[in-house]
Amino acid sequence: MIPPEIIEEIKFRCDIVDTINAYVPLKRAGSNWNGLCPFHSERTPSFTVFPATKSFYCFGCGAGGDVITFIMKRENIDYRAALELLADRVGITLPQNNDNMRSEETVRRERILNMNREAARFFHACLYDPNIGREALAYLTGRGLSGAVIKHFGLGYAPDGFGALTDYLQKRGYTAEEMSTGFLCGISKKTGRPFDYFRNRVIFPIIDVTGNVVAFGGRVMDDSVPKYLNTSDTPAFKKSRNLFALNFAKGKCAERMILCEGYMDVIALHAHGFENAVATLGTAITPEQARIMAKYTKKVIISYDADEAGQRAANKAMKLLGEVGLDVRVLKVTGAKDPDEFLRKGGENAKEKFKLLLDNSRAQFEFKLEGVLSRHDITILDERIKAAAELCQIISEVWSDAEREVYIGVVSDKLDIPRDSLKNDVKRMIKKREKERRTEEKQTLERTTGGWGDRINIDKVKNPYAVNTEEHILGILLLYPENLAAVKNGSLSLTEEDFYSEFNRRVFGETMAHYDPARPLDFGCLSDAFSPDEMGRITSMIVRRQGLGDNGSGVLQEMVERLRGETRQKRLSEAGREVDAIEDLLASQRQKLKK
Ligand code: GTP
Ligand code: MN
Repeated sequence: MIPPEIIEEIKFRCDIVDTINAYVPLKRAGSNWNGLCPFHSERTPSFTVFPATKSFYCFGCGAGGDVITFIMKRENIDYRAALELLADRVGITLPQNNDNMRSEETVRRERILNMNREAARFFHACLYDPNIGREALAYLTGRGLSGAVIKHFGLGYAPDGFGALTDYLQKRGYTAEEMSTGFLCGISKKTGRPFDYFRNRVIFPIIDVTGNVVAFGGRVMDDSVPKYLNTSDTPAFKKSRNLFALNFAKGKCAERMILCEGYMDVIALHAHGFENAVATLGTAITPEQARIMAKYTKKVIISYDADEAGQRAANKAMKLLGEVGLDVRVLKVTGAKDPDEFLRKGGENAKEKFKLLLDNSRAQFEFKLEGVLSRHDITILDERIKAAAELCQIISEVWSDAEREVYIGVVSDKLDIPRDSLKNDVKRMIKKREKERRTEEKQTLERTTGGWGDRINIDKVKNPYAVNTEEHILGILLLYPENLAAVKNGSLSLTEEDFYSEFNRRVFGETMAHYDPARPLDFGCLSDAFSPDEMGRITSMIVRRQGLGDNGSGVLQEMVERLRGETRQKRLSEAGREVDAIEDLLASQRQKLKK
């Protein structure tokens, strides 16, 4: 147990707006803050942070809670680990006598990270051991990498054979189970013994923004397959949330960032002074990665492979990056298959040549415009109309009014169609999409927070009226904890028995258990007993009441009576069913006796 005053101190120092703002760019909206929800995909912000109640709530997906819930959900860790993470950030030491006081999860994570660091050192040493890594070093040098670059990225070599790394790590106290969880070894089905996962490959360590070695990529040195092996998700690593070389790029990319497909592209770019380059880890870009990029930069220049697959991937990436509000551009290398090859072929002036490509990278709209025009012969009337419709669709997806005006002008000139008619089309499409979005968000809301199939409060379908009443009562209690004193001293009569639904009864019980007249109650204390999803529901109760004017004791009293009536009904009908059952039994026995 962590003493409440320490949790209070952590929450005081980790201001909810600042903490969340580091993950989700927030904008002030009155006394609250808004942003795009990090827990579901959306284009208009329904994620709100309420400094007054130190809470957040998403009106789209129902996620909510306090700063600790946010970290639990965002980092995918448990309560204790979230507290440890926040405490670390603000220099608070959590009370612990020995290691097993730290949460199991935190210890496990740390062990894996330490093990990875050892492994990275091992791989790097192997690369520079002339008896082991000569060929690998020659391979990397042959691809144009200098010793300085190899050291900067901590590249390495995983020796051939099955036990090099596993033996090394076992001697240092890591178990086979830990190594296999960390994706450094597999376990032989026959012997049950661990064997190296990366064998005879050059190694690219993946380092996160805080400097932890979180994963590895390993490339063969010939044409065998698979060309790359990558670490899958581990307790210390989520592929979908990391970017290669972001640890180096993070301080160099405020203006613009370059997104590549391959490790080698990024390394070549950094070696040529473009230290703002990053790559996804062997997968297509994810919404999470897009949101992370938006945290570090304003503009992303996509620099994927020149082939068709690369360009298709660029199109997808463009969409995701646009959705998080980034200014996106696409660069296409010419005369080479990817940026790495382009730079190598460029010789002396490689850097200048690539810079030229960067500066000439086309804005998203131009890129798409070119695509549409290449698909339609606009000298034919019918085709021209089709092209106009496609372009209006594209323009309607642009956020800024000013930008839309400009693009409408461009299309109007190109297709020789009056501005006003294009403008009307665009307007109509925006309205239509807005409507679709609202319906969709409403449906998600209904799916996750109420009505049919309510997974959080399974009793809600049975009596939505009673459960709603409960939610209002709990909302007032949590928003104005002084009412809890009235419950405690009996001046407001309310007990667990009065609750209709199991879930809300638990919320009430936990709230009363945490209530201490000597200190202000913070609803966040419930994070210990409820899952982040459940916390979302609890937050929704508070949020709903804080929007309403009258939260006085009169309202509360009235609602408690209403609830009690509903719950009594439920008891009666349950009892009634029992009585009926007994009556039936008796009747059938009487029947038998008669016979
Ligand atoms: P080379 O220049 O050939 O060394 O590689 P590259 O870095 O240019 O990679 P490429 O463009 O072929 O692929 C892009 C990225 O996709 C790589 O950096 C890897 O992360 C990933 N990748 C490529 N091939 C494989 C594979 O066979 N398996 C997996 N899991 N990932 C791969
Ligand atoms: Mn390549």
